[in-house]
Amino acid sequence: MLDPGAVTDELRARVRAELPEVEEIRDPALRERVVEAWALALASSSFGAIAEIEPSGNPGVNTLRRGSQTDHIRGVTRMALALAEQLQAQLPDLEVDRDVLIAGALCHDIGKPWECDPENRRRWEADPRAAGLPSIRHPAYGVHVCLSVGLPEEVAHCAAAHSGEGELLVRSLENTIIHHADYAFWAIARAGDLLVPESVAELKVRH
Ligand SMILES: [Fe+2]
Repeated sequence: MLDPGAVTDELRARVRAELPEVEEIRDPALRERVVEAWALALASSSFGAIAEIEPSGNPGVNTLRRGSQTDHIRGVTRMALALAEQLQAQLPDLEVDRDVLIAGALCHDIGKPWECDPENRRRWEADPRAAGLPSIRHPAYGVHVCLSVGLPEEVAHCAAAHSGEGELLVRSLENTIIHHADYAFWAIARAGDLLVPESVAELKVRH
């Protein structure tokens, strides 16, 4: 569970180094909270860095052959920004909150240190009927992390509903962009033969 006492300045500095896009957030308070959220998520897990988390969409599913989870987080953030900027160049009436878009993209998978934690996986897989497998998916756990550090609901919503959970509600504009960037990332990685073949989601379903 979350352990605010374990957050260190060293960890905050590592998050800033791993996610340089955080500097593009204009509101300094929002920028600090995004760093704090990732530092808290890592400090409360077995991971010491985002790059230590497996480069997958879900544990064991859609795994990059090469690279790390930072490539996914940063790639989705850059794609979301590009989608917004390029579309706004064509459709100037489109009003996107750029800060929320960047913060939401950087935090959309902030629950992965929990869902991908090898200690949690071992516990859940040993007895799936005890607490579930996983007990809480990364979108829901991501909400817990976001709200714990005081991130606004607009950002917590991007963690909550970027994935399948978002089919149960109406996604915000910024989260709609993030959702499509996230799904496009994995679809394009697959088409480009960047995924470990046994991990590809559709093949798993077919089997
Ligand atoms: Fe993602």
